Amino acid sequence: MCGIVGYIGPKKAVPILIEGLSKLEYRGYDSAGVAIVNNGKIEIEKCKGRLSALEERLKANPIDGSLGIGHTRWATHGEPSDVNSHPHSNKDFTISVVHNGIIENYLKLKEWLISLGYEFKTETDTEVVPHLIDYFYDGDIVKATMQAVSKIEGSYALGIVCSKEPDKLIAVRKDSPLIVGKGNGENFIASDIPAVLPYTRDVYLLDNREMAVLTKDNVEIYTIEGLKVNKEVFHVTWDAASAEKGGYEHFMIKEIHEQPKAIKDTMTSRLMPGVDEIKLDDIKLTKEDLQNINKIYIVACGTAYHAGMVGKYVIERLAKVPVEVDVASEFRYRNPLINKNTLMIVISQSGETADTLAALRLGKENGARVIAVTNVVGSSVAREATDVLYTWAGPEIAVASTKAYVTQLIAMYIIALYLGRLNGNVSDEEFRLIRDEMLKLPEKAEHLLEQKETIQKFAAMHYVHKDMFYIGRGLDFAVALEGALKIKEISYIHAEAYAAGELKHGPIALIDKGVPVIALATQDELFEKMLSNIKEVVARGAHVISFAFEGNDDISKVSDAVVYLPKTLSILAPVLSVIPLQLLAYYTAVERGCDVDKPRNLAKSVTVE
Ligand code: AGP
Repeated sequence: MCGIVGYIGPKKAVPILIEGLSKLEYRGYDSAGVAIVNNGKIEIEKCKGRLSALEERLKANPIDGSLGIGHTRWATHGEPSDVNSHPHSNKDFTISVVHNGIIENYLKLKEWLISLGYEFKTETDTEVVPHLIDYFYDGDIVKATMQAVSKIEGSYALGIVCSKEPDKLIAVRKDSPLIVGKGNGENFIASDIPAVLPYTRDVYLLDNREMAVLTKDNVEIYTIEGLKVNKEVFHVTWDAASAEKGGYEHFMIKEIHEQPKAIKDTMTSRLMPGVDEIKLDDIKLTKEDLQNINKIYIVACGTAYHAGMVGKYVIERLAKVPVEVDVASEFRYRNPLINKNTLMIVISQSGETADTLAALRLGKENGARVIAVTNVVGSSVAREATDVLYTWAGPEIAVASTKAYVTQLIAMYIIALYLGRLNGNVSDEEFRLIRDEMLKLPEKAEHLLEQKETIQKFAAMHYVHKDMFYIGRGLDFAVALEGALKIKEISYIHAEAYAAGELKHGPIALIDKGVPVIALATQDELFEKMLSNIKEVVARGAHVISFAFEGNDDISKVSDAVVYLPKTLSILAPVLSVIPLQLLAYYTAVERGCDVDKPRNLAKSVTVE
């Protein structure tokens, strides 16, 4: 999730592009760059790091010109570096491009272009675009762009300039957000509205597979097939602050709503319809490697550790390899039995958590192979692990992790299926069943987000409580732990999660009249057991909200409120069941007037021991 901007008009482009990028830096801050068309040439300035680093360079080397594009990067393909920074250009720097999204077939396109004699300088997926446009260019940048994007698969928002046609700024959109700001004698493009708000409140919201051709006095919109589109101007009434949150009140609720896309992106080019194999990026784990592995450790902290607990269940269930899951701060000091027959999986959104990093190093020192599951390209964990599997959740700003967690779950399923296929424990039939159900999760998550009223009502009833209890069995227990952590983190309610069968061995003594209990019952084979556990707490006066799949109506007879989840396989339930728990924590914190995005005593990345 990068931020792109563009300007065409009478004014100097650089200050306008920099201002716009500063409003989009929440989308990514690995590198930044601009390309300016001036006197028939394109001048580029780009570098690794925050926008401020680029501003320093532009102070030292000012660039003139009133047509330009800019970019702030969230790395997905190619580590953060000066070379991998956008804009990217063709060989003779007559075409430059900024991109937000993922080009899924970039490797195939790259091979083809190299066979035609094109040279590549970067590791990015984006660099194929300027070379493709160059290949089709015969004096008409609009036509060449249409031909080029017809070859591209994946998601993209593109800003394109061409020094041979300095009166045009091109924008193209498919699956990644892109708007056009309509000015007076000037026009703008941007990934999001905050970037153009200082100049105009009139925008065109480009739809999927649409392209805009901007001159300083006009904006024309076409489908990428070339059909003209008449589009209404949308007048923005939001203030800048809420615009950065896309109109949401907090980054956390915005990120909760970004989960359907994050789930889809993290499955992209790894799990594909009708394809009977998992593509695990560059991770080369052979059947022999797996045969030599006698233990898997999953090590992480906080929410990432909770994703690891789901990982243990699904890897043992699908690949039948023993898995131990550990909090990193304990793992690193308990002299764990690690050797060359050990596979370690470390999970970290930030990729910089000190305890997780130390656990990784301990594993490698003792000969283990380490797979890192992280959300930040080029982070320490990514760089030091043997292999890395990126979650593509995009930047997560709110301290309380939400979308990164569900993408970590998807990563656990992908690894479990990959290992299970490798050692033959997952049959074609079982693989297809789980694959097809996983590919439906984004849509089901979207549907679930529409069901917030029930949760808002429960939050409004119970936000005054000092204690809350979460219960579940099997995978539901792992998700209950995450639900309890969310509400602790942002609403400061003392919430505890228990394996439901464990209640009668002590914790049930804490249940009293009106105490809120959140019960998860998504595991078909454990459903009846969960019903009796719910009855146990109801008998002590608890006020219960339950989460179960549509169709399990019996649960409504023993619960005060029920949130029904779209039906999926029990093994995949955590991806859906956690979403209403995130919403419950969010609405409870809002009711209590807490600082949702920046809760007390917490940091987004814990880089100290
Ligand atoms: C989760 O909401 C918290 N921010 C925290 O528990 C977090 O999961 C933990 O600090 C691990 O962070 P990481 O995933 O960046 O390593």
